[in-house]
Amino acid sequence: MWSPAPKAANSHSTHASSPLFSPSLISPDVVSALPPKYTIRPLQRSDYEAGVLDVLRVLTNVGDITEEAWDQRFSWMAKKEDEYHILVICNGEGKVVGTGGVVVERKLYVYESSQSGYERFLLNIGSIHNLGLVGHIEDIAVAKDQQGKHLGLHIIKALDYVAEKVGCYKTILDCSEPNEGFYVKCGYKRAGLQMAHYYGTASVKGGH
Ligand code: ACO
Repeated sequence: MWSPAPKAANSHSTHASSPLFSPSLISPDVVSALPPKYTIRPLQRSDYEAGVLDVLRVLTNVGDITEEAWDQRFSWMAKKEDEYHILVICNGEGKVVGTGGVVVERKLYVYESSQSGYERFLLNIGSIHNLGLVGHIEDIAVAKDQQGKHLGLHIIKALDYVAEKVGCYKTILDCSEPNEGFYVKCGYKRAGLQMAHYYGTASVKGGH
């Protein structure tokens, strides 16, 4: 299993280019598969300027986020070491054109009742002594004019690499029906059913 990188990444630094997580978790295979001049790296504070929120607007209503609010949230995530792994793909001009993240949840157990006997067998080999880690894939977005170039696929492959390296036994995600085919191409399969309970007062809770 991956162990935390030396503090070279220094995610607590206020530096604009400090990575949110260790760049050693970026898949070399994905780096070499990107189109010429495109790069992939952990999110950094300066991505506010590089357009990451604009890219996320293809996915959802992002709202108006001030740089100060962005900064506070970035600092909060950076302190949660080994939990938030948000990455970006940039074009040759350094503009963010794709993003996605995997949030690592630490479970109190390894097994799930839905796992098949074979899955349980595999887990027994790999992690009987460990509490389980589950990766939650979140907020995958590719700029409209960049879609269809396999950037989404590269983002998922890169997040899978992170999840596996840090020791997750699986990654899960929620998506709409029209996106199912994309995730199937990325190696995911339908499992279970999503349910939600929205709370009307939660818009700015969670602070920083
Ligand atoms: N249905 C079926 N197949 C698809 C779909 C789809 N909706 N989208 C892409 N594919 C296929 C492609 O044709 C390609 O197939 P190929 O390998 O045979 O050529 C393969 O999946 C990979 O496609 P990419 O080119 O990597 O896809 P793209 O870069 O356009 O990214 C994404 C896909 C992320 C869904 C993009 O269209 C997007 O940003 N959409 C708007 C935001 C969104 O819906 N994000 C996902 C939310 S769910 C979540 O965040 C967990």
